[in-house]
Amino acid sequence: MIVITGATGALNGATVDQLLTRVPAAELAVVARDVAKAQRFADLGIDVRRGDYADAESLPSAFDAADQLLLVSSSDPRADAVELQRTAIGAAAAAGVGRILYTSHQGAAADTPFGPGRDHYATEKLLAESGVAWTSLRNGFYAHSLAWLLGPWRETGVIEVPADGPVSWTSRGDAAEAAAHILTAATPREGLVTITASAAPTFVEVAAIASELTGREVTTRVVDPEEWVARQVAAGQPEFLARFMLGMYEAADLGFFAGTDPLLGELLGRQPVTVRDVLAAPAPQGH
Ligand SMILES: NC(=O)c1ccc[n+]([C@@H]2O[C@H](COP(=O)([O-])OP(=O)(O)OC[C@H]3O[C@@H](n4cnc5c(N)ncnc54)[C@H](OP(=O)(O)O)[C@@H]3O)[C@@H](O)[C@H]2O)c1
Repeated sequence: MIVITGATGALNGATVDQLLTRVPAAELAVVARDVAKAQRFADLGIDVRRGDYADAESLPSAFDAADQLLLVSSSDPRADAVELQRTAIGAAAAAGVGRILYTSHQGAAADTPFGPGRDHYATEKLLAESGVAWTSLRNGFYAHSLAWLLGPWRETGVIEVPADGPVSWTSRGDAAEAAAHILTAATPREGLVTITASAAPTFVEVAAIASELTGREVTTRVVDPEEWVARQVAAGQPEFLARFMLGMYEAADLGFFAGTDPLLGELLGRQPVTVRDVLAAPAPQGH
């Protein structure tokens, strides 16, 4: 039995869809904070269980009989993600789960300026100490985030960032499909597993790709970080979120997202989605 948390979200929801092409619905169970949000899985014959990392008592029945547990990382930037994940990992160990697969992030480290990267690193330590077999799926930064991170470059010809560095922009759909391959492989993968696209362009290189695609010059301008935060806030972004994203750019500048790994392409049996593919897609509404 594969038990999946976070299936009401985009990543693990897509993983469940991929799993359904490989294993019968009766071998899957999804855990949802609000079971009504998981109705589409119930309609497909998947066992839907209520479970919330913030409600420890909900987890023993949620994780029951899991040979493998796909554990989503907390999605709330204001929550204490490590404490929530500590509760979930403790419950998984107590429930006798065979293996925990955790949705981590490339560049997880104690010293990264990107807050979630520190939380993922702390969670990986909890996994290592849990006594349960574990796999940490260190996904690259979601490539579709470029649609809003790059701002209105299609109108202005300028990409403004508070720091520049390479990022292995990775398709969330590709990462979900890779997780399904790993969950259904004959041999489990142990420990840290890096799931990234095959290139990690800087924002200057992203601008060059945008120039090639549009036939007009697009440039990247690195602005003062505090000025960048002030502009984000003036544009309506809460300051804590602007600073949260500033940490991402700073981590990129320091090389935390620079690595690429051929594993994703090998698992998919095709070239992973590229930044060029993402920018060539129709512009999102409002940009
Ligand atoms: N690689 C990247 O670039 C990137 C970017 C953003 C986030 N992430 C991380 O990757 C994870 C998956 O991404 P996603 O795109 O699928 O995010 P998402 O669409 O926001 O889904 C998050 C899922 O986590 C569930 N969840 C949140 N808190 C929970 C809790 N306390 N107990 C149980 N379930 C909880 C949510 O349940 P509800 O439906 O009830 O809310 C939802 O199903 C995120 O949670 C985040 O940690 C990665």
